[in-house]
Formats: sequence, C-alpha cells, structure tokens
Amino acid sequence: MSEKLLITGKQTIKGRVKVNGAKNAAVAILPAALLTEGQGVISNLPRITDIHMLVEILSALGADISFNKEGSLVVNSAGVNRFDPPPQLVNRLRASYYLMGSLLGRFKQVEIPMPGGCDLGPRPIDQHIKGFSALGAQVEMERGMVILKAKKLTGAHIYLDVISVGATINIMLAAVLAEGKTVIENVAREPEIVDVANFLNAMGAHVVGAGTDVIKIQGVKELGGVEHNVIPDRIEAGTFMIAAAATGGEAVIEEVIPKHLDSIIAKLREVGKELEVGPDWIKVMANNPFYPLDLKTFPYPGFPTDLQPPVMVLLTMAPGLSFITENVFERRFRHVDELCKMGAKIKLEGRTAIIEGGHELTGASVQAGDLRGGAAFIIAGLISEGETYLDGLEHIDRGYERIEERFSGLGVKLQRITSEKP
Ligand code: EPZ
Repeated sequence: MSEKLLITGKQTIKGRVKVNGAKNAAVAILPAALLTEGQGVISNLPRITDIHMLVEILSALGADISFNKEGSLVVNSAGVNRFDPPPQLVNRLRASYYLMGSLLGRFKQVEIPMPGGCDLGPRPIDQHIKGFSALGAQVEMERGMVILKAKKLTGAHIYLDVISVGATINIMLAAVLAEGKTVIENVAREPEIVDVANFLNAMGAHVVGAGTDVIKIQGVKELGGVEHNVIPDRIEAGTFMIAAAATGGEAVIEEVIPKHLDSIIAKLREVGKELEVGPDWIKVMANNPFYPLDLKTFPYPGFPTDLQPPVMVLLTMAPGLSFITENVFERRFRHVDELCKMGAKIKLEGRTAIIEGGHELTGASVQAGDLRGGAAFIIAGLISEGETYLDGLEHIDRGYERIEERFSGLGVKLQRITSEKP
C-alpha cells in the first residue's frame, strides 16, 4: 500500500510556520554522542525518519537512548560495546557514514557498509578516508564494507581536495580523541559544521575554526556529558520561503537564524519578492512580478544545492530565460524530467539548466527521487492548474517532519492518500 501526496493546484500560501531543528546537523550530532561515556541531552531534533533510524542504530550498538517527556533525546553511550552497526539499518540511511568517524574515534575500529548512493550523482567518500588514514587508520574497503582499524589515532595535517560537508565533520569526529593536534584545511563552512563543533566542545573537545576554511583540533583523553539545542534548519526554512514566493502568497517563517539564509534572501529579492527580516523570523511577501535569474550553487555561504530543485520551480514563473548552474553535485537534475511532465520548459546543458519561464504548469503524477526534489514537486503542485499526485513520500518524510501539517499551517492543503483510493 503505497502512499501518495495529492496536491490541488492554484493554492496560495498565507500564514506562519516554525522551523524545525537542522536535519544535517542532527544526523551528525547523534553519532557524535557515541564519543563520550557521559550523558547527552539533545533538544530541538526534527522528528524525521533519518533521526528515528539513527536512534535505532545507536540502540543496537548498546546505547541507552530515548526521548524524555520534554521531547529531548537522552543518550547514554557508556554501554556501547560494538563497532559494527547492523548493516540492514545502516543501508537505509546515507548519513550513517558519520558512524565511521565517531566509532573510529571511540573504539579505534569500525566495520560499516559503504554508504548508499542516491539520485544526486556519485557520492564518493575518498576525502573521508583520506582524513582517517592521515590520523593513522588502516583502511580496507571490500565486499561493500568499510573496515577501519588503528592502534592509536594521532593528530595530522590534512588538506581536503574537495570542499565536503561530510568529510569535514567525519574527520572532526575521529580527531577529537586523537593524540596531539589536527589541522584540516580547505574544509566546508556550513552552519551545521559549526553546530557539530559546538556540540563536541560542549563535551570537552577542543575544536577551533569551524565555519572558516581551516579547523584546528587539540585531541583530549576523554569527553564528558553534554546538553545541546540543535540549530534551526536553514534548508527547511528556505523551502517554505520559496514556496511562499512561488504561490504569490505571504508567509512568516519563524525560529530561524537569518544569517544562515543570506543567499536565499538575496536571490528572492532579485527575483522580485519583498522580504522583511527580523531577529529570528523572515516575512516573505510575494505580491510583485517575477524576474528571471542567473543562479549558481556553491558550498556555504553560496546558494545551497539543497534549494536548487525548489528554486527551479520558482523560476518557471519568471517570464524570460533563467539559468541555474549546479556546481556541487554532478547530476542533481533528476527532477527536471518530472517538472517537464508538468509543462515546465527546461533544457539541460552540462551542469546548467536553462528555464524558459512564464509558462503555466499543469498537475501530473510525479515521482520524488530525493528529498529536495520531492519538496520541489510539492511547490510545483501548488502553483499548477489541476491535481498533482506525488509518489516517493519516503524521501520527503526523511527530511521534512509531518509535511502536510506544516503546510496546512501556511494555509494550503496537501492530502496523504493510499494508492487504493481514487
Ligand atoms: C551534505 O552531503 C548534505 N547531507 C547534503 O544534503 C548536501 O547537499 C551536501 O552536504 C552539500 O551541501 C548531509 O549533511 C547528511 P559533500 P555530503 O560531501 O556531505 C564530493 C539533503 O538533501 N565529494 O559536501 O555527502 C561530492 O561528490 C542532502 O539534506 C567527494 O568527491 O556532501 C559532491 O560532489 C542532499 N569526495 C561534493 O563533494 C568525498 O569524499 C560535495 O559533497 C566527499 C564528497
């Protein structure tokens, strides 16, 4: 019995929504909690399947883990006695690769399946492995497994060949308990990396420079307990901002860190929308005409690749030619075919999508291939003539908590139906 989302077109967003904790910080912070035998209390976690999967994995490793009555996750990893997380659980969650850095840091060994690919193109982990080897780990990659072993981990000077969020965080996780000093150069600067570094420092680690392109870590012997509040999810916030702009509505997105959204604010203003920015909220007023854009995705603080699919839908409404160049992933254009099924006029030339805007979309049955493509189809369904049936909700539920409830707070109706119903 597969679930679909029925999206009735021509709905206008009007309302307010509170943003959840950042998925891409949370999926690293839970594995990081394995590094200490102290207690971790983590709040503002999004209730999404990626988090539920990680709770299951940590529990299978021997952690005592549960949500308390305030809704915070309490983790005691003292009882963790395994370094080989169950493959059948790991294979269902790409971000489980952070277990490599944390189990290597804690136990000096880890056995874990290679992380699964997805629809964004190849997802290598060579830079992660480069860091682990530099710290002293022997690496075996065979039968689809990654096996890391180290007599001890010693601080090293590591230069990343590619700006990688995952590699930056994973090497940090392995280095905080290494002997001596580690310097990692050419690192990613995403706010989620800063949040993980703050979590580690709250446990007693010595990590400086997160958010810049050089991170320095002085290894410590052990880590202690921690209480941490996960930062707001800038990608979820940006998704709602773009949805409001696309539907011609008005929305207040609350509990955000506006600084993390600078590039989205700038681009929505360039496309012709009016925005008001408060200390922890952003108001989007979409009553003006749309202008075409030339947009390029880059690592933070550039325009985030995760909002490339949603902003492509927005640009179908801007008369004229818009250009989106995807500089982060090799093939993050799987959503283009499906959008063309809805009447979008988009041509691909290498890493650039050329969008001929000003043509109305019409509802269709479409399939989400990844989380952010799914979000884009919701926005496309809202602005289309007619009804859209969206398959692949497992992708959406991975990263957006109770998506239909959140959008209903913005005044639009999304209906989750099972495939038997007409
Ligand atoms: C993180 O993925 C996010 N996922 C992605 O969000 C996000 O799109 C991406 O960073 C870029 O911001 C999580 O945080 C769980 P990368 P990650 O390593 O770490 C290449 C979402 O929807 N690369 O920064 O896997 C890689 O192929 C997801 O929330 C190597 O070549 O991304 C890519 O082209 C989608 N070798 C580029 O670097 C490596 O060892 C950036 O990837 C690692 C990466």
